[in-house]
Amino acid sequence: MSDKTFIRTAEPCDVPSIGALHARVFGPGRFARSAYRVREGRRDGNALSDFCHVAMRGNRLVAAVTLSEVKIGGVPGALLLGPIAVEPEFAGQGLGRQLIAEGIADARSAGKSLVILVGDEPYYGRFGFRRVPPGQITLPGPVNPMRVLAFPLQDGAIEAARGLVTSAY
Ligand SMILES: CC(C)(COP(=O)(O)OP(=O)(O)OC[C@H]1O[C@@H](n2cnc3c(N)ncnc32)[C@H](O)[C@@H]1OP(=O)(O)O)[C@@H](O)C(=O)NCCC(=O)NCCS
Repeated sequence: MSDKTFIRTAEPCDVPSIGALHARVFGPGRFARSAYRVREGRRDGNALSDFCHVAMRGNRLVAAVTLSEVKIGGVPGALLLGPIAVEPEFAGQGLGRQLIAEGIADARSAGKSLVILVGDEPYYGRFGFRRVPPGQITLPGPVNPMRVLAFPLQDGAIEAARGLVTSAY
């Protein structure tokens, strides 16, 4: 097997491997996560967007980030990042950082306004995510409002985003 790890856009054929990675990393509680709840609301049934990326070691999928196009308070233009998962044996090698950077770069190229997520500020803060004032942006599922973070891609995008996050499709 190749000892090079590389990152590429996720493809439909990756869906089973991404699902298995999530099952290993998050266990059965994963379906309660906000990102899953938001995607359940998709009418087209697609699990992936053009913004999702995977890290491959040879033919083995070792990390993945999912980004979903969402509306916030009915307004489109934002992406919800999550879940992101790295195989434990590949943790701490920068794959999480690279996957997030790829997702944000594509979001910027596509003219998106904002990337939001629910996660640890000490981790995501290092990439430029900021805490959203509690209650300004709400998500389905059990969410600690202090963990709602956002990365603005346009001036004033965080301040303008208000309301419930729902799937854009
Ligand atoms: C969180 C996760 C995606 C990070 O991926 P990774 O490839 O290991 O991260 P990177 O290599 O880019 O960064 C590693 C650094 O982040 C730090 N870090 C990792 N998770 C952290 C957290 N929750 N809070 C604060 N720092 C964290 C590490 O200590 C390390 O710090 P260092 O650079 O000072 O040594 C990965 O560990 C993972 O899949 N965890 C389980 C699933 C999860 O919690 N996902 C996030 C919620 S959706």
